[in-house]
Amino acid sequence: MASSKQEQSSTNKELPLKQIPGSYGLPFIGPIFDRHDYFYNQGRDKFFSTRIQKYNSTIFRTNMPPGPFISSNPRVIALLDAASFPILFDNKKVEKLNVLDGTFMPSTKFTGGYRVCAYLDTTEPNHALIKGFYLNTLLLRKDTFIPLFKTILSDGFNEIEDGLSSKSGKADFNSMVSVASFNFMFKLFCDDKNPSETILGDQGPKMFDTWLLFQLAPLATLGPPKIFNYLEDILLRTVPFPACLTRSSYKKLYEAFSTSATTMLNEAEKAGLKRSEALHNIIFTAGFNAYGGLKNQFPILFKWLGSSGEELHKELANEIRTVVKQEGGVTIQSLEKMPLVKSVVYEAMRIEPAVPYQYAKAREDLIVKSHDAAFEIKKGEMIFGYQPFATKDPRVFDDPEVFVAKRFVGEGEKLLKYVLWSNGKETEEPSVGNKQCPGKNLVVLLCRLLLVEFFLRYDTFENETKNNAFGAAVSITSLTKASSV
Ligand code: HEM
Repeated sequence: MASSKQEQSSTNKELPLKQIPGSYGLPFIGPIFDRHDYFYNQGRDKFFSTRIQKYNSTIFRTNMPPGPFISSNPRVIALLDAASFPILFDNKKVEKLNVLDGTFMPSTKFTGGYRVCAYLDTTEPNHALIKGFYLNTLLLRKDTFIPLFKTILSDGFNEIEDGLSSKSGKADFNSMVSVASFNFMFKLFCDDKNPSETILGDQGPKMFDTWLLFQLAPLATLGPPKIFNYLEDILLRTVPFPACLTRSSYKKLYEAFSTSATTMLNEAEKAGLKRSEALHNIIFTAGFNAYGGLKNQFPILFKWLGSSGEELHKELANEIRTVVKQEGGVTIQSLEKMPLVKSVVYEAMRIEPAVPYQYAKAREDLIVKSHDAAFEIKKGEMIFGYQPFATKDPRVFDDPEVFVAKRFVGEGEKLLKYVLWSNGKETEEPSVGNKQCPGKNLVVLLCRLLLVEFFLRYDTFENETKNNAFGAAVSITSLTKASSV
């Protein structure tokens, strides 16, 4: 039903060619006004929705943060619908060189002087070499995913129970999943070594947090009281934080991965990579791509699950326990037989994608189509997609702002091509020739596994949620242990 909506709209229709509306304003002042609207006056969703109304178009010109002085050119063409967004995945038409964080790139001093995989364009030979190495590495370790994450989750759930029985009566879900994500990636990449037995002790997640924060701070707001908005803006967006601020913790991360990721480093050398380049890439992927992504993704999932209430929890527990009993355990195959679990995970990824921004530059003059019009983008112009507006496009999804747990069950699976969290369609696969996340299937598996292990152990839960600088902050306020198994 909903899948036909979009198909009727733009793909087969002759669309009028129009000038891209919007303006960049005066040099220097325009980008500053835009970023104040974006962070402080309007907030990001309102920033985009008011401009869609003003220009009567889901494609328009605007500046994106950080702007002066961190990015030399903040001018972008924003794509805010499901029809135009996929041009960002067409690597023949767009270049993704140094655009991971948008219109600026943190110093390579954060990564040992290397431009790591996520900053490489598909035309650079190193991209295929490193991406191929990751895809292979993950394939070699696929049998570890379930047993490793199960053990880590079991510790995490114990910790949540301890938190609930403490004085505060609340458990910090984010801190549990941060530690779980870190331990999972470290053990996966480091021959099952326990990070706390290395030089890192139990400080690994904190070290990655500060290293990430110093790279991404220009894109964030801590939501200070209004009178401090200008001060925060100047502090975060005038000059980049230097990498030397995290040098000593990065050195420890380097040492821990260098002595522990031996098998993976040998595999990298065999694939033709220099050991030192491979090591900085491994740290970046473990810490930025994987840890950074997962520690945001899991709270988003629980935020929406919590807000959906006990009835959905009951249905999930029922599906999970029935399949696990029938299949005799939790396996990749049994997870495939849980349509509701699968749909809930995809719906969380649709309604709140963990990495909401994607950028790319036009390799050539090209035409991009919204549902209603076609626009010409010139070679070299920066294209920016704000993903929540593509995955909540009312021309594709019914009730796009509502968390519909069963949206992707049965016929609904046809809508999976509009789920884009991995920097590609959910129906497509990461490869050396594209920029889709190589962790795509692993991430989906871990989210399903989190639900399965949770509802094998508990019937339901209650939570409190706040928004934080990069996503959702979830506290668990009550847990009901499983009444049946
Ligand atoms: C919830 C967790 C994750 C999310 C939300 C996520 C999301 C993404 C996105 C959006 C991109 C594309 C960025 C861009 O170019 O604009 C990406 C790329 C990448 N991700 Fe993930 N990711 C996650 C987990 C992982 C994991 C577990 C791994 C590795 C094991 C991983 C490795 C990578 C790498 C290496 C790239 C660069 C791909 C390339 O250059 O072709 N990610 N990820």
